[in-house]
Amino acid sequence: MKKTKNLETLNIVIVGHVDHGKSTLIGRLLHDTDSLPEGKHEELKKICEDRGTEVLEWSFVLDAFQAERDQAVTIDTTQIRFATEARNYTLIDAPGHKQFLKNMISGASQADAAILVVDAQEGMLEQTCMHANLLSLLGIRQILVVINKIDLIDYDQKKFKTLSKQVTDYLTSIGLKVPHIVPVSARNGDMIATRSDNFSWHKKGTLLEVLDSFDVGASYSRLPLRFPIQDVYRHDEKRILVGRVETGSLSVGDKLVFSPSDETATIQTIEGWPEPKKPIKKAEAGECIGLTIDKSIFVERGELASHTKSLPMLTNVFRANIFWLSSTPLKVGNTYRIRYGTTEASMNVQSIDRVFDNENVEREGAETEVCRNEIAEITLRTKNHLAVDSFADNPRLGRMVIYEKYDIAGGGSILTEGYPDQRTLGKPKSTNITAVKALINPDMRAKQFEHKSGIFWLTGLSGSGKSTLAIAVEQALYERTMHTYVLDGDNVRYGLNSDLGFSPEDRAENIRRIGEVANLLKDSGLIVITSFISPYREDRQRARALAPESFHEIYVDADLETCENRDPKGLYKKARTGKIKDFTGIGSPYEPPEAPELVINTKDNNVEVCVKQIVDYIMNVVKT
Ligand code: ADX
Repeated sequence: MKKTKNLETLNIVIVGHVDHGKSTLIGRLLHDTDSLPEGKHEELKKICEDRGTEVLEWSFVLDAFQAERDQAVTIDTTQIRFATEARNYTLIDAPGHKQFLKNMISGASQADAAILVVDAQEGMLEQTCMHANLLSLLGIRQILVVINKIDLIDYDQKKFKTLSKQVTDYLTSIGLKVPHIVPVSARNGDMIATRSDNFSWHKKGTLLEVLDSFDVGASYSRLPLRFPIQDVYRHDEKRILVGRVETGSLSVGDKLVFSPSDETATIQTIEGWPEPKKPIKKAEAGECIGLTIDKSIFVERGELASHTKSLPMLTNVFRANIFWLSSTPLKVGNTYRIRYGTTEASMNVQSIDRVFDNENVEREGAETEVCRNEIAEITLRTKNHLAVDSFADNPRLGRMVIYEKYDIAGGGSILTEGYPDQRTLGKPKSTNITAVKALINPDMRAKQFEHKSGIFWLTGLSGSGKSTLAIAVEQALYERTMHTYVLDGDNVRYGLNSDLGFSPEDRAENIRRIGEVANLLKDSGLIVITSFISPYREDRQRARALAPESFHEIYVDADLETCENRDPKGLYKKARTGKIKDFTGIGSPYEPPEAPELVINTKDNNVEVCVKQIVDYIMNVVKT
């Protein structure tokens, strides 16, 4: 085997339609890089003679390796090693995409790059598209497309160009970069390690030259630090946090934040793991290490360490682009387990937002299930907050695998847009504060006002009728000499919340403040009616938690179509024409309440009927 001075190894996954010549390419690659074990070439020649084939069948190399591979490989992806002058390579052959996904996502095999094999005669077939989609979902950015069997199209440059365009168009349409494309004849060994006269028209690199130009994991080191804790060991008096630095780097003395617990500590020592090496000062992406920290905080498997300046998002609801593999469809309301890094959690499918077939064509209509081999955008909810990274920011940790019982059922990438980071919301900044207790209690106020107080929280889409109902209800209550106050979205945004926009974080802060104000007004003895879209369940839940006994969630229910037809402020029209990017229901999510105290259907009932329903409800609640 070729010796290289360079110790670095590039991991490449090789995928493509089953008949497009992967095995032949691998065999030839091993031969051309001088990586076949002693005597294998002769053995191969003999096998071919015995089988009566004149031309060497390079795919037999893999057959010949089979027995050894079966013994040597503990994971179910086949790993084959070879080297060039420049460096070492590990080629991960992915016999089936289930294993492939499993290994890619579990981190058993971390590919820096991919080779996608396409038959020059057949072009992109369904399986090729599927594999390309997996590469895209798994975040493999360096892709080499090998147009194989070019000898069968007589080294025709024109045909190669047409096919290259077809491949490039498809890959870029699913979010991959323009790939490197190399025409080869794996059978003849053309353009793998050496150029041949047949390819005088192809001026770009050979397959190996392109591979040598790829980056080894370097890009992961440049990302913010992510160190998922795999385990915590006790060693003498020390507690050692072990795991693998997935992205970024860490050094002794760095301050770490552990998520989701949000605990902080400083690194005291870094040691090699599992083989204790001499203590080191710094570790980079890809290294397995053990850490000791300066505090005895409670950190366990699944916590994610990062630096203070670039933290993962904390949330219990996020979206994902997924690829579904199971024969049982994924359904709204179903529960599955997800895994990324060392995080494992149970999730519930809140909604299926878009579904695409294999050729990337969107399926029409409201979606309730995702079938095998389909790609979908889903929204999922977990019980507790998880530390998540969007795939766009961190392709390594932003991808997850979905389990159905113990089987891998799908996988995909995490999208964090549309939902707020819950890390800092509502945490007091001040220390040394002590609350005082008022001398006037709620019963005294209720006696004076002759009714109890309460918070009546209207939630619903823009245009569902919240403001109209809120002011009409207030008027009706006023006429009954009740003491009321209405807090309304647009009004509050002119004053108290004039510093807030419509980003997920701003909306969450908007609702947090309203929740607090509503609570104060309620304490003062008033009947508070709030009229805010308040799109996130978590925010409404937080408002409820301030005064659980007094909080009444009223869902002003009108579907998107109805609200859009009403469009009282012309905002839906603006949103549809792209003038408002994050409009609720269009560019930004709305999560209807799961168990509201009252639902008001404004689609089928007129204002008077709706007002009466709310007034009756409130009168019943506040009577003394
Ligand atoms: S919330 O999402 O933070 O609860 P809020 O109820 O305060 O929203 O404000 C909603 C009102 O702001 C809407 O009725 C509409 O008049 C206006 N608005 C302006 N831009 C947006 C937007 N991008 N999404 C929703 N409402 C918007």
